[in-house]
Amino acid sequence: DGVRRRDFINIAAISAAGVGGLAVVYPLISQMAPSADVLAESSTELDISSIEEGQAIKAIFRKQPLFVRRLTAREIDEANATPASSLRDPQTLEERTKEGHNDVLITMGVCTHLGCVPLGAAEGEPRGEFGGYFCPCHGSHYDTAGRIRKGPAPLNLEVPEYEFTSDTTVVVG
Ligand code: FES
Repeated sequence: DGVRRRDFINIAAISAAGVGGLAVVYPLISQMAPSADVLAESSTELDISSIEEGQAIKAIFRKQPLFVRRLTAREIDEANATPASSLRDPQTLEERTKEGHNDVLITMGVCTHLGCVPLGAAEGEPRGEFGGYFCPCHGSHYDTAGRIRKGPAPLNLEVPEYEFTSDTTVVVG
């Protein structure tokens, strides 16, 4: 009797572990492979309060790099000093940022040439000839509004859909 009882306990312990294992694995799988519609609808909330003037951060939005940058007054002036009509992809800083938050530039960190991740969003990285971002793959230079200024990229860095939900919180997507 004592032996049987022990066998039963062992089997019960094993199946409990099996169930536990499954429960852990399932959410991992669902995070790794979200279905296309879930991915398309996902949004990302960002706290931007710690980004100082002149600083940028890299985040992830829908599995792609996202750059968030707080422009200095000088960087804003530089962007505004360039007539949009003279640009390859004519857009003003105002059109690329939100009213009252022209100092916060949010773009995808994906070069519009062949999709490399440009430099300039991390401390010490080169920002290119126009002070914004520099794509080292084939030498595209973006300005302080993330607009293409030199090199092969055809378009400005994409500005995703986003909104400010408070002065320091942004929801992207
Ligand atoms: Fe950026 Fe070619 S991918 S310049």
